[in-house]
Amino acid sequence: MAQELNRFSRTLTQEVTNPAAQAMLYGIGLKEEDMSKPQIGIASTGYEGNPCNMHLNGLSVYVKQGVQANDMVGLVFNTIGVSDGMTNGNDGMRYSLPSRDIIADSIETVVAAQWYDGVIAVVGCDKNMPGAIMAMARLDRPAIMVYGGTIRSGHYKGQKLDIVSAFEALGKKFAGNISDEDYKGVIQNSIPGQGACGGMYTANTMASSIEAMGLSLPFSSSYPATHEGKQEECKKIGAAMKKLLEMNLTPAEIITRKSLENALTVVMALGGSTNAALHYLAIAHSAGIPLTLDDIQAISDRTPFIADLKPSGKYYMEDILEIGGVPAVMKYLHGEGLIHGDCMTVTGKTVAENLAEAPDLDFEAQKIIFPLSQPIKASGHIQVLYGNLAPKGAVAKITGKEGLRFEGEAKVCEHESEIIDALAKGEIKAGHIVVIRNAGPKGGPGMSEMLKPTSAVMGAGLGDKIALITDGRFSGGTHGFVVGHITPEAFEGGPIALVKDGDRITIDANTRELTLHISDEEMAARKAAWVQPAPKFTKGMLGKYIRNVKSASEGCVTDEA
Ligand code: FES
Repeated sequence: MAQELNRFSRTLTQEVTNPAAQAMLYGIGLKEEDMSKPQIGIASTGYEGNPCNMHLNGLSVYVKQGVQANDMVGLVFNTIGVSDGMTNGNDGMRYSLPSRDIIADSIETVVAAQWYDGVIAVVGCDKNMPGAIMAMARLDRPAIMVYGGTIRSGHYKGQKLDIVSAFEALGKKFAGNISDEDYKGVIQNSIPGQGACGGMYTANTMASSIEAMGLSLPFSSSYPATHEGKQEECKKIGAAMKKLLEMNLTPAEIITRKSLENALTVVMALGGSTNAALHYLAIAHSAGIPLTLDDIQAISDRTPFIADLKPSGKYYMEDILEIGGVPAVMKYLHGEGLIHGDCMTVTGKTVAENLAEAPDLDFEAQKIIFPLSQPIKASGHIQVLYGNLAPKGAVAKITGKEGLRFEGEAKVCEHESEIIDALAKGEIKAGHIVVIRNAGPKGGPGMSEMLKPTSAVMGAGLGDKIALITDGRFSGGTHGFVVGHITPEAFEGGPIALVKDGDRITIDANTRELTLHISDEEMAARKAAWVQPAPKFTKGMLGKYIRNVKSASEGCVTDEA
């Protein structure tokens, strides 16, 4: 892919010779001496509409200053962002996962069309990061990602809060466990300002693991959005980019099988979001590196879950900086043989060389990261399940806190709003396995996150009494006994489409099986009677998405023939 693009680009790092391009560059204020400088596209997903993105255009200004200070031309352009937190629980969520591919396509389009020599992406929410990395892999020009940083925690009546607190307050409201005043207090104080959602949710998962993969500077994922280190990082990016250009070090040398393993190892160790499975399959696809769900399971098998971070734990991403940041965690994992040290990074050095300067974890003084000898769970929390309900795979988040096996009675919901209604009416009971279907990439469309239902279940006090399975996906903020990414999805006639209320289902994390307890004959009879629903969209972006998107087990990519 990268070669295809480069064939059509100008010879990189050479003078602009196209007279129209020269004229236009003079028109935007460049001088004669600028014509021979490298041009760096600075892609910002900044916009005013949500805390993850509201400050990114400001950070891009610092990035541009650093680029100019290193004798290059920095040109800021914008691409879109969709807030998962704000779209969760409504039909706008259909656009969230597709936004990842629009971001990838748009960064690829601007950088390739405008002949930029390198690209810096300033990004800050769930889909922005994988989208930017997918573009970098396709373009294969010197590239660095700058994370906008995690949010600080909110506070109300002595409690630390974040976005999940707001959703869980809704469940408490259904259960009559919170006063109107406290409900309002939680909603008004959960989000204190700029930054991405503060637990080890999808944004912080992707930021930490992309740093581990080598495409952002050390500590990029650890500095909160409002920390002075974030501005300093932005100013240093120009020098780092200059070095990459001099070394001609491109993503093809940084995104490798080994660096993908490093990224996924950090996801497992930190208890990161199940969305990472989806996004790393897509990033690997963009980089042309074979990676499957089974490869992800193999990394989970060998990586203990050792971080007491939200959503299942106690601490926030802002707390990680205090104990040495992600570099300290990586240094520990590297010392224990779980991280490949010989991978190249955007510092121009290897992972091991970067980590030589990182602080050490102090297991006496901090209680966020556990020693590998005393893990929260001996293997990773992300588990790939198969079985007659998920012949092509499903992804579960099993931290061990919810148990390892759940057998129960199916309660089928054709839309996530049905579970909210059923909860409000008290129809969801202990022992239910709630099946939310037709929420897959094509059927949803857009494979919505189920944060509102899972948070409402938690808030209603049913978190350890019911399980939830879906062909949609889960927010990084979700906890509880949940299985998502069920493939094939209901829209394509997967067995999840055939489940009926009252069926027995078993989720077994020991055998990694998801089983619908009906006979093969009954399954075949139900399949024969099944009729594919009409697509919910035939036009517009979602219509295009339905026609192009691959399954969750293939990363929901949209650019595969
Ligand atoms: Fe952007 Fe949560 S909504 S990180």
